[in-house]
Amino acid sequence: MSEHQSVNPLDAGQMETIVNDALAAIAAAKDLDQFRAAKRDHMGENSPVAAASKAIGQLPGSDRAAAGKALGAARKQISDALAARETVLEEEEQTRRLAEETVDVTAASARTYPGARHPLGSLIDEVGDFFAAMGWDIAEGPEVEHEWFNFDALNFDIDHPARQMQDTFYIDGTTVGGDNPEDAHLVMRTHTSPVQAHVMLGQKPPIYVACPGKVFRSDELDATHTPVFHQVEGLAIDKGLTMGHLKGVLDHFAKAMFGPAARTRLRPSFFPFTEPSAEMDLWFPQKKGGAGWIEWGGCGMVNPNVLRACGIDPEEYTGFAFGMGLERTLMLRHSIADMHDIVEGDQRFSLQFTGRGKGK
Ligand code: PHE
Repeated sequence: MSEHQSVNPLDAGQMETIVNDALAAIAAAKDLDQFRAAKRDHMGENSPVAAASKAIGQLPGSDRAAAGKALGAARKQISDALAARETVLEEEEQTRRLAEETVDVTAASARTYPGARHPLGSLIDEVGDFFAAMGWDIAEGPEVEHEWFNFDALNFDIDHPARQMQDTFYIDGTTVGGDNPEDAHLVMRTHTSPVQAHVMLGQKPPIYVACPGKVFRSDELDATHTPVFHQVEGLAIDKGLTMGHLKGVLDHFAKAMFGPAARTRLRPSFFPFTEPSAEMDLWFPQKKGGAGWIEWGGCGMVNPNVLRACGIDPEEYTGFAFGMGLERTLMLRHSIADMHDIVEGDQRFSLQFTGRGKGK
């Protein structure tokens, strides 16, 4: 401020210099930063104009009005120039930003997908809902199962081929069997049928229960097999149940899974835990390669030996049971050609079942 101490608002030459300096600095400001600096230097508290304003106070009273007028005129010139320059610079700044900050709407963005539920999980829920809607219970059993439940209770002979180590994963070194795998008696369940035995031992008939769950067999993963897969088991025990009731439930289930035109047929077969036993074929119009029959599962009337092993009197009660693979159900329903697609967990596969992906 001291450098401007000598400013005299009544010195027209000096005031003209002050104004001209300010106008030059304002005109020279190339951007808003420089503009703000020029404004500070030429109109701020330490500017010559501010010094001139202070100097008025030192003037004799008679000079003050004229000094104030001169200062006001100088100020107005500077502030008009500031306002005009500011408008121009702001417009320039706006134009520059618009050019620099354009959005390339064609650029690929980093997308985060919301994820997709695996269709097998949805199918398991759907199957559960179907049986629950008929008033059946849903039961689950352990995946590591005692051999007695997986085989003996279900009337498998001691030398039945399904017990062989090639088909069944045995758990080594269990407290039951010791370290010799030959003596081990715990297995990864090879089917959901042992849940039948748990249910029958745990409750009295009538029994209507569906048991979805994971099962294990020592198969290689290929287009149609996987060592870990899922089944749903159905079991009904009541007075007077017949194969007619079994067939009715299977047809109803087939329609729920494959549409109103679907139906089932039974072919004689053998399972140790059912007598008579049948392979169950499914007919549905959307079958890959055209409407036709394809094997879907196994079924039969519960073998009296199984009822007895589970404490149910076969003279009083009869029952039927069935079981089918859920991966197989999914593959048939959606014409999935390769099991790898189901087990590999690629989200693009699952997305197809959500309505958000392309495809089915
Ligand atoms: N447990 C049999 C299987 O895994 C299927 C089945 C269930 C057959 C119930 C008859 C009755 O192949």
